[in-house]
Amino acid sequence: MDSDSSSLLTPGRHRPAAVREMFDRISPRYDLLNRLLTLGLDQHCRRRAVRALGLPPHCLIVDLACGTGDFCRILERRRMLPVGVDFSPGMLSNAKTSAPLVRADVMRLPFRDLSVEGAVCGFALRNLEALPPFLAEVARILQTGGRIALLEVAAPSGALPRSVHTFHFRRVVPAVGGWLSDKEAYRYLPDSVKFLPPQHELTKMLAETGFSEIEYCKLGAGIAGLFTATKT
Ligand SMILES: C[S@@+](CC[C@H](N)C(=O)[O-])C[C@H]1O[C@@H](n2cnc3c(N)ncnc32)[C@H](O)[C@@H]1O
Repeated sequence: MDSDSSSLLTPGRHRPAAVREMFDRISPRYDLLNRLLTLGLDQHCRRRAVRALGLPPHCLIVDLACGTGDFCRILERRRMLPVGVDFSPGMLSNAKTSAPLVRADVMRLPFRDLSVEGAVCGFALRNLEALPPFLAEVARILQTGGRIALLEVAAPSGALPRSVHTFHFRRVVPAVGGWLSDKEAYRYLPDSVKFLPPQHELTKMLAETGFSEIEYCKLGAGIAGLFTATKT
């Protein structure tokens, strides 16, 4: 199937395949562009997310939609036991981590019920088919008391920071991404924010899925938002 922008932006049965093909295409320069376009703030946010999990060393943590394994590397440095899951062979083959990586759909996780202590997910929620079944699947594999940290793009508060961010996200990201990688993909990435529910809706979904201690905070000068929660 050809992954044109309509299949990337239209919910339906072709969207997951179009998303996978797009990440396969951009995988060789994915890390470079992330560091460049966020001036390294993406890694700062991932480190904060891992700290916010509040889990001790040796815990088994699933990195959901792990991409090139940035979260896995941070988790390894903190002596946790990450396993990365992603459905894009391109992203997985460009991963730089010694953690085990599994090629699978995060909507059907290859883990037993109640088998992991934590899960992280970086900048992938807006690419998923639907969030309630995804959260239910994550809750299924988490032990009671298990923790999740979900990181997504956000916009800073305040009129000036917000307009600078909008200019960067809508103009600079597609231009630089198009120049160094893939024009259509780096146009899709800002547009895909339309698939992210507002904060209160995601909080409600988490509560309805059986999570408690749900917290939200902005990170990285407001360019990212972090949800943390505990499986009850
Ligand atoms: C924006 S990247 C984020 C990668 C990584 N988590 C990070 O922090 O850089 C989104 C990732 O989600 C993956 N993805 C999207 N939908 C998926 C699904 N249903 N199952 C597994 N991986 C998925 C893509 O292949 C891609 O690697």
